[in-house]
Amino acid sequence: MSDKIFSVAIDGPAGAGKSTIAKSLSKKLGVIYVDTGAMYRAMALYLLREGVDMEDAAAISAKCQDADITIRFVDGTQQVILNGENVSGLIRTEQVSNMASRSSVNPDVRKKLVELQHALAQKESLVMDGRDIGTVVLPDAQVKIYLTASSAVRAKRRYEELIAKGEQADLAQIEADIIERDHRDMTREISPLKQAEDAVLVDTSDMTIEEVEAKLCSIVNEKVG
Ligand code: DC
Repeated sequence: MSDKIFSVAIDGPAGAGKSTIAKSLSKKLGVIYVDTGAMYRAMALYLLREGVDMEDAAAISAKCQDADITIRFVDGTQQVILNGENVSGLIRTEQVSNMASRSSVNPDVRKKLVELQHALAQKESLVMDGRDIGTVVLPDAQVKIYLTASSAVRAKRRYEELIAKGEQADLAQIEADIIERDHRDMTREISPLKQAEDAVLVDTSDMTIEEVEAKLCSIVNEKVG
Protein backbone atom coordinates (compact mmCIF):
# COMPACT_ATOMS: atom_id res chain seq x y z
CA MET A 1 0.00 0.00 0.00
CA SER A 2 1.39 3.47 -0.87
CA ASP A 3 2.36 6.04 1.81
CA LYS A 4 0.08 8.64 0.28
CA ILE A 5 -3.33 9.44 1.72
CA PHE A 6 -6.03 7.50 -0.14
CA SER A 7 -9.80 7.23 0.10
CA VAL A 8 -12.19 4.39 -0.60
CA ALA A 9 -15.73 5.63 -1.30
CA ILE A 10 -18.60 3.16 -0.88
CA ASP A 11 -22.11 4.22 -1.86
CA GLY A 12 -25.35 2.34 -2.19
CA PRO A 13 -28.91 2.04 -0.90
CA ALA A 14 -29.96 1.22 2.67
CA GLY A 15 -29.37 -2.37 3.69
CA ALA A 16 -26.90 -3.26 0.92
CA GLY A 17 -24.30 -4.21 3.57
CA LYS A 18 -22.15 -1.08 3.19
CA SER A 19 -21.28 -0.60 6.85
CA THR A 20 -20.43 -4.27 7.52
CA ILE A 21 -18.18 -4.39 4.49
CA ALA A 22 -16.68 -0.92 4.95
CA LYS A 23 -15.81 -1.78 8.56
CA SER A 24 -14.00 -5.00 7.69
CA LEU A 25 -12.25 -3.41 4.70
CA SER A 26 -10.99 -0.50 6.82
CA LYS A 27 -9.56 -2.97 9.35
CA LYS A 28 -7.76 -4.89 6.62
CA LEU A 29 -6.33 -1.66 5.19
CA GLY A 30 -5.47 -0.27 8.64
CA VAL A 31 -7.38 2.99 8.06
CA ILE A 32 -10.40 4.61 9.74
CA TYR A 33 -13.99 3.91 8.69
CA VAL A 34 -16.30 6.92 8.46
CA ASP A 35 -20.03 6.19 8.46
CA THR A 36 -21.65 9.34 7.05
CA GLY A 37 -25.18 7.98 7.53
CA ALA A 38 -24.56 8.21 11.29
CA MET A 39 -23.93 11.96 10.92
CA TYR A 40 -27.25 12.44 9.08
CA ARG A 41 -28.90 10.32 11.76
CA ALA A 42 -27.43 12.45 14.58
CA MET A 43 -28.75 15.57 12.82
CA ALA A 44 -32.17 13.90 12.47
CA LEU A 45 -32.17 13.05 16.19
CA TYR A 46 -31.41 16.69 16.99
CA LEU A 47 -34.27 17.92 14.79
CA LEU A 48 -36.66 15.36 16.31
CA ARG A 49 -35.70 16.44 19.81
CA GLU A 50 -36.23 20.08 18.87
CA GLY A 51 -39.68 19.24 17.48
CA VAL A 52 -38.88 20.75 14.07
CA ASP A 53 -41.60 20.23 11.46
CA MET A 54 -40.11 18.09 8.70
CA GLU A 55 -42.09 19.92 6.05
CA ASP A 56 -40.63 23.28 7.14
CA ALA A 57 -37.39 23.62 5.14
CA ALA A 58 -36.62 27.09 6.54
CA ALA A 59 -36.91 25.79 10.12
CA ILE A 60 -34.59 22.86 9.32
CA SER A 61 -32.07 25.22 7.67
CA ALA A 62 -32.10 27.48 10.73
CA LYS A 63 -32.08 24.74 13.41
CA CYS A 64 -29.37 22.61 11.83
CA GLN A 65 -26.89 25.45 12.43
CA ASP A 66 -27.19 24.84 16.20
CA ALA A 67 -26.25 21.17 15.95
CA ASP A 68 -22.56 20.62 16.48
CA ILE A 69 -21.82 17.15 15.09
CA THR A 70 -18.38 15.58 15.32
CA ILE A 71 -17.02 12.06 15.38
CA ARG A 72 -14.59 10.32 17.68
CA PHE A 73 -13.04 6.87 17.57
CA VAL A 74 -13.17 4.57 20.58
CA ASP A 75 -11.28 1.29 20.09
CA GLY A 76 -11.40 1.96 16.36
CA THR A 77 -15.18 2.37 16.32
CA GLN A 78 -16.79 5.63 15.24
CA GLN A 79 -18.84 7.46 17.87
CA VAL A 80 -21.08 10.37 16.87
CA ILE A 81 -21.10 13.34 19.20
CA LEU A 82 -24.07 15.73 19.10
CA ASN A 83 -23.50 18.97 21.04
CA GLY A 84 -21.10 17.16 23.35
CA GLU A 85 -23.32 14.07 23.89
CA ASN A 86 -22.38 10.66 22.50
CA VAL A 87 -25.60 9.70 20.68
CA SER A 88 -24.25 6.61 18.89
CA GLY A 89 -26.65 4.31 20.75
CA LEU A 90 -29.73 6.43 19.97
CA ILE A 91 -29.65 6.80 16.20
CA ARG A 92 -30.60 3.33 14.92
CA THR A 93 -34.38 3.51 15.47
CA GLU A 94 -36.90 3.44 12.61
CA GLN A 95 -38.07 6.93 13.65
CA VAL A 96 -34.56 8.35 13.27
CA SER A 97 -34.07 6.44 9.97
CA ASN A 98 -37.19 7.99 8.49
CA MET A 99 -36.36 11.47 9.74
CA ALA A 100 -32.76 11.19 8.45
CA SER A 101 -34.01 10.28 4.99
CA ARG A 102 -36.25 13.38 5.05
CA SER A 103 -33.88 15.91 6.62
CA SER A 104 -30.96 14.85 4.43
CA VAL A 105 -32.67 16.46 1.42
CA ASN A 106 -32.04 19.87 3.01
CA PRO A 107 -29.11 21.75 1.37
CA ASP A 108 -27.97 23.39 4.62
CA VAL A 109 -27.88 20.05 6.44
CA ARG A 110 -25.84 18.57 3.59
CA LYS A 111 -23.46 21.52 3.34
CA LYS A 112 -22.63 21.30 7.03
CA LEU A 113 -22.03 17.55 7.07
CA VAL A 114 -20.18 17.41 3.73
CA GLU A 115 -17.70 20.01 5.07
CA LEU A 116 -16.97 17.76 8.04
CA GLN A 117 -16.58 14.68 5.80
CA HIS A 118 -14.27 16.54 3.48
CA ALA A 119 -12.06 17.70 6.33
CA LEU A 120 -11.72 14.13 7.62
CA ALA A 121 -10.59 12.83 4.22
CA GLN A 122 -7.95 15.59 3.92
CA LYS A 123 -6.32 14.46 7.16
CA GLU A 124 -5.91 10.71 6.73
CA SER A 125 -6.64 7.64 4.63
CA LEU A 126 -10.10 6.23 5.12
CA VAL A 127 -13.00 4.14 3.95
CA MET A 128 -16.12 6.32 3.86
CA ASP A 129 -19.63 5.11 3.10
CA GLY A 130 -22.87 6.91 2.29
CA ARG A 131 -24.97 7.95 -0.69
CA ASP A 132 -22.94 10.72 -2.37
CA ILE A 133 -19.36 9.93 -1.40
CA GLY A 134 -18.06 8.96 -4.85
CA THR A 135 -20.15 11.58 -6.66
CA VAL A 136 -19.94 14.69 -4.43
CA VAL A 137 -17.95 14.34 -1.21
CA LEU A 138 -14.81 12.63 -2.55
CA PRO A 139 -14.98 12.84 -6.35
CA ASP A 140 -11.22 12.13 -6.49
CA ALA A 141 -11.33 9.01 -4.30
CA GLN A 142 -8.84 6.41 -5.55
CA VAL A 143 -11.43 3.63 -5.20
CA LYS A 144 -15.19 3.95 -5.70
CA ILE A 145 -17.61 1.13 -5.13
CA TYR A 146 -21.37 1.08 -5.61
CA LEU A 147 -22.74 -1.68 -3.42
CA THR A 148 -26.31 -2.79 -3.98
CA ALA A 149 -28.75 -5.70 -3.64
CA SER A 150 -32.39 -6.25 -4.60
CA SER A 151 -34.98 -4.68 -2.28
CA ALA A 152 -36.33 -8.17 -1.48
CA VAL A 153 -32.90 -9.37 -0.32
CA ARG A 154 -32.24 -6.20 1.68
CA ALA A 155 -35.65 -6.47 3.37
CA LYS A 156 -35.03 -10.13 4.24
CA ARG A 157 -31.63 -9.29 5.80
CA ARG A 158 -33.20 -6.54 7.91
CA TYR A 159 -36.11 -8.83 8.89
CA GLU A 160 -33.72 -11.56 10.03
CA GLU A 161 -31.69 -9.04 12.04
CA LEU A 162 -34.81 -7.90 13.91
CA ILE A 163 -36.06 -11.45 14.52
CA ALA A 164 -32.62 -12.47 15.83
CA LYS A 165 -32.87 -9.58 18.32
CA GLY A 166 -36.26 -10.96 19.46
CA GLU A 167 -38.16 -8.04 17.93
CA GLN A 168 -41.43 -8.17 15.99
CA ALA A 169 -41.06 -7.63 12.25
CA ASP A 170 -43.27 -7.51 9.17
CA LEU A 171 -41.30 -8.45 6.04
CA ALA A 172 -43.71 -6.81 3.57
CA GLN A 173 -43.71 -3.55 5.56
CA ILE A 174 -39.91 -3.54 5.78
CA GLU A 175 -39.62 -3.96 2.01
CA ALA A 176 -42.20 -1.20 1.40
CA ASP A 177 -40.19 1.16 3.67
CA ILE A 178 -36.95 0.28 1.86
CA ILE A 179 -38.51 0.98 -1.53
CA GLU A 180 -39.88 4.31 -0.29
CA ARG A 181 -36.53 5.34 1.19
CA ASP A 182 -34.64 4.32 -1.99
CA HIS A 183 -37.03 6.41 -4.03
CA ARG A 184 -36.52 9.46 -1.80
CA ASP A 185 -32.72 9.06 -1.72
CA MET A 186 -32.49 8.54 -5.50
CA THR A 187 -34.83 11.29 -6.66
CA ARG A 188 -33.95 14.16 -4.31
CA GLU A 189 -32.69 17.31 -5.96
CA ILE A 190 -29.34 17.61 -4.20
CA SER A 191 -26.76 14.81 -4.26
CA PRO A 192 -29.16 11.98 -5.10
CA LEU A 193 -27.97 8.42 -4.61
CA LYS A 194 -26.45 7.24 -7.87
CA GLN A 195 -23.50 5.27 -9.09
CA ALA A 196 -20.49 7.46 -9.93
CA GLU A 197 -19.33 6.95 -13.50
CA ASP A 198 -16.01 5.55 -12.32
CA ALA A 199 -17.44 3.38 -9.51
CA VAL A 200 -17.34 -0.41 -9.65
CA LEU A 201 -20.81 -1.94 -9.26
CA VAL A 202 -21.06 -4.86 -6.82
CA ASP A 203 -24.48 -6.53 -6.52
CA THR A 204 -24.47 -8.52 -3.28
CA SER A 205 -27.91 -10.16 -3.73
CA ASP A 206 -26.43 -13.61 -4.26
CA MET A 207 -23.15 -13.17 -2.42
CA THR A 208 -22.05 -14.09 1.11
CA ILE A 209 -20.29 -11.49 3.26
CA GLU A 210 -17.00 -13.34 2.71
CA GLU A 211 -17.46 -13.22 -1.04
CA VAL A 212 -18.20 -9.48 -0.95
CA GLU A 213 -15.15 -8.87 1.26
CA ALA A 214 -12.91 -10.80 -1.13
CA LYS A 215 -14.32 -8.93 -4.12
CA LEU A 216 -13.74 -5.51 -2.53
CA CYS A 217 -10.20 -6.42 -1.46
CA SER A 218 -9.36 -7.39 -5.02
CA ILE A 219 -10.84 -4.11 -6.34
CA VAL A 220 -8.80 -2.07 -3.82
CA ASN A 221 -5.62 -4.03 -4.60
CA GLU A 222 -6.07 -3.42 -8.27
CA LYS A 223 -6.62 0.34 -7.86
CA VAL A 224 -4.28 1.26 -4.98
CA GLY A 225 -1.77 -1.54 -5.12
O1 DC B 1 -26.85 4.85 5.65
P1 DC B 1 -27.92 5.22 6.65
O2 DC B 1 -29.18 4.39 6.50
O3 DC B 1 -27.41 5.23 8.06
O4 DC B 1 -28.33 6.74 6.28
C1 DC B 1 -29.40 7.40 6.89
C2 DC B 1 -30.00 8.42 5.91
O5 DC B 1 -29.06 9.48 5.70
C3 DC B 1 -30.35 7.89 4.53
O6 DC B 1 -31.75 7.76 4.35
C4 DC B 1 -29.87 8.92 3.55
C5 DC B 1 -29.03 9.86 4.35
N1 DC B 1 -27.65 9.90 3.88
C6 DC B 1 -27.35 10.81 2.89
O7 DC B 1 -28.23 11.50 2.39
N2 DC B 1 -26.06 10.95 2.47
C7 DC B 1 -25.08 10.19 2.99
N3 DC B 1 -23.83 10.36 2.57
C8 DC B 1 -25.38 9.23 3.99
C9 DC B 1 -26.68 9.10 4.41
